[in-house]
Amino acid sequence: MGYKIAVVGATGLVGQEMLKILYERKIPVSEIYAFASAKSEGTYVEFGDEKIKVEKATVDGISKADFALFSIGEEISLELAPEIAKRGTIIIDNSNAFRMNPDVPLVIPEINPEDLKNHKNIIANPNCSTIQMLVALNPLHKKWRLKKIFVATYQSVSGKGKDAIDELLTATSSFLKKEDYSPKVFPYPIAFNLIPHIDSFEDENYTREEMKMVRETHKILHDPTIKVSPTCVRVPVLRGHSEVINAEFEEEFTLKEVFEVLSNAPGVKVLDDPSNRVYPMPLFCDGKDEVFVGRIRKDLFEPKALNMWVVSDNIRKGAALNAVQILEYMINNK
Ligand SMILES: NC(=O)c1ccc[n+]([C@@H]2O[C@H](COP(=O)([O-])OP(=O)(O)OC[C@H]3O[C@@H](n4cnc5c(N)ncnc54)[C@H](OP(=O)(O)O)[C@@H]3O)[C@@H](O)[C@H]2O)c1
Repeated sequence: MGYKIAVVGATGLVGQEMLKILYERKIPVSEIYAFASAKSEGTYVEFGDEKIKVEKATVDGISKADFALFSIGEEISLELAPEIAKRGTIIIDNSNAFRMNPDVPLVIPEINPEDLKNHKNIIANPNCSTIQMLVALNPLHKKWRLKKIFVATYQSVSGKGKDAIDELLTATSSFLKKEDYSPKVFPYPIAFNLIPHIDSFEDENYTREEMKMVRETHKILHDPTIKVSPTCVRVPVLRGHSEVINAEFEEEFTLKEVFEVLSNAPGVKVLDDPSNRVYPMPLFCDGKDEVFVGRIRKDLFEPKALNMWVVSDNIRKGAALNAVQILEYMINNK
């Protein structure tokens, strides 16, 4: 007994991690299908010890599955998902295509799994930066109600897919050899640099990535009054996003209470012992499931606010793991 599961985008960073996590978490799979672009048709991906032949992503092919985990670009999701959902396959989509659609639940299983009840065969996985921020903030929000979030992200290149990893490695090597290198994935050279620009610019000079953090926070927490003030920055880190967060609450709290709440929060691991130089760093979060929180301290001037540093593996909790947890929740709750 098990489910027919398709991974769409199986040759990509997120798709590969999905296959790994489906296997690790022993999701009951009766058949597994791997889909990607025509370019990858006939190649193989791994699922445990098995090698799965990659098929070209088509509506007919993907509709064989009970569940399809999508990790492809936004336009291809928009093109394929509605018809596949109509035919009865439940889609969990990692792209931005459906996140703000009122008929589509946007879910972080630690926070709002009950939103899954109203799905119409498409469920959206939130943006990686929103997921780690809210996994860390929601337990505090439940106690003291969030009023305002200031967030600055330090997002690794893997957030932009497999080609971006190659770009950082090649650009670094070219820089060290003093060779010319023209960026193809990022708008500027990423080696030894920071780029305060992720996705396109929208109104008021905020980027789309920044506005995702605002809109998705409101949808997931069901509270459009929370003020979110984001700046998203690409950094020359291979994997793992980091965030500086200043959060202001409606009520006062002590630091001891914050540590207690976060230490018992689902999906959170507190790494905070400054005197012993203990704090989260992306290099050490690679391949881990948790959202790591450290450098927790009260705001110096606002008694109802705190500062913290939040790090998580963007490919796991920021994408593949969150999607598989949604699937797991649906299977366990029928
Ligand atoms: N990376 C992250 O941290 C992250 C986090 C959250 C959400 N996401 C989202 O997840 C999606 C995938 O991201 P990624 O990082 O895995 O990207 P990636 O490494 O570039 O992989 C992209 C995948 O999409 C497939 N693909 C491309 N064009 C296709 C087409 N026309 N038809 C079918 N499949 C096609 C690719 O297949 P080929 O190998 O055959 O080209 C590959 O399997 C994106 O929507 C991204 O925004 C990523």
